[in-house]
Amino acid sequence: MTHLACGLDFGTSNSTLAIHAENAPRLLPLEGDEVTIPSAVFFGTEPQDAFLVGRAAMRAYVEGATGRLMRSLKSILGSSLIEDRTQVYKRRIAFSEVIRLYIAELKARAEIAAGAPIDHVVLGRPVHFVDNKDEADAQAEATLLRIAREIGFSDVSFQFEPVAAAFDYERRIDRERIVLIADFGGGTSDFTVVRLSPDRNVADDRARDILANGGLRLGGTDYDRTLSISAFMPTLGHETLQTRGDLEIPAGPYWDLSNWADIHHLYDPKRLIEIRHTRQVAQRPEFIDRLIHIIEERKGHSMLIEVEAAKIALSSAPAYQAALDWIEAGLTVTATRDSFERTTARLRERLRGASLACVAESGLTPEAISAIFFTGGTSQIPNVREAITHTFPDAQVIDGDRFGSVGLGLAIEAKRRYG
Ligand SMILES: Nc1ncnc2c1ncn2[C@@H]1O[C@H](COP(=O)(O)OP(=O)(O)OP(=O)(O)O)[C@@H](O)[C@H]1O
Ligand SMILES: [Mg+2]
Repeated sequence: MTHLACGLDFGTSNSTLAIHAENAPRLLPLEGDEVTIPSAVFFGTEPQDAFLVGRAAMRAYVEGATGRLMRSLKSILGSSLIEDRTQVYKRRIAFSEVIRLYIAELKARAEIAAGAPIDHVVLGRPVHFVDNKDEADAQAEATLLRIAREIGFSDVSFQFEPVAAAFDYERRIDRERIVLIADFGGGTSDFTVVRLSPDRNVADDRARDILANGGLRLGGTDYDRTLSISAFMPTLGHETLQTRGDLEIPAGPYWDLSNWADIHHLYDPKRLIEIRHTRQVAQRPEFIDRLIHIIEERKGHSMLIEVEAAKIALSSAPAYQAALDWIEAGLTVTATRDSFERTTARLRERLRGASLACVAESGLTPEAISAIFFTGGTSQIPNVREAITHTFPDAQVIDGDRFGSVGLGLAIEAKRRYG
């Protein structure tokens, strides 16, 4: 039986897996016919220990199944929390174990789709899992390596996600060019300056063509957080005052509710006691009631799902109204693109700075960049694109397969390394 090699893009928000067959990389279906799968898991309490991944996990949660939803697991890689155990129904389980279960499920599904065992893998990784901390960064990669071995991959290696995206784009070009790859994902933004050419083939050693890599831990989930805090949390009482003095009520719960990985902290019974206490001293207790309702109903993720939907809508519309009847009859929140762009101006500047730093590191001037290749879901935010296109005004703008480029490029790399 043939044993296959694959590229695996374990993303903060979505994952893909691709193999190289019949001279081209191909994404494998991982959930029904879908070749992308949300990086989400759901541990149900009824039936006990039901384990769901992807859209099915999101759906079970949104439809009200009791259990625990987890997203953005990749952002825990490289943090000290990775081996912490977290309560999932009646058992406690390490975050690294949750990632292991998720990736093992992807591998199993891919093997069914491919009809053969997949033994070798090139795993994508952001240029930096963690900013400015080499040790944590190495730890994140080591954790992923260990997980990949544990679930049965015999050969495991890594490639930077934007370099993989470059190899996918290279299949489409007809002349040599210097390209800035900009991959704006859910958790990180990554850049590569690379020399691409139609004459290179998968057997070539490409190290000399990769002129610089850079990136930072800033992605779509940071845009979710900012939109949540500025547009949604005020309706739950954020930045309202206490009855005495001009002190605001504590902000902690609002930040937890705006961060995928922190929502579950709010379900600690002690937190609810504190928030009920806040309600007693709040000038707008009716707003705090909404917050209490969300926590009591374990609907924290539903709130952030609403925020994310608003963010996505603002990519193509100047304003968006979210209907939040599930919190309170008639409750709506309006988000506008103007305000979203104002409140995320600092994020935009950091992205712009990182793209310039990457080009500077390549030793080239900005004018030498002949094309910008955008990939990743967050590249659809107009303001994020402008941050880059205004910085490199002469470069041609090219859009990749936003959710598939990295996985496809990793499969090209897998072919190169494992044959
Ligand atoms: N139309 C859109 N406008 C704005 N943001 C979008 C849009 N579509 C998707 N997104 C955002 O893109 C992000 C997911 O992108 P993607 O799947 O490329 O990330 P990822 O590969 O999982 O993350 P990473 O590469 O950082 O690990 C999410 O934050 C999602 O909300
Ligand atoms: Mg990605």
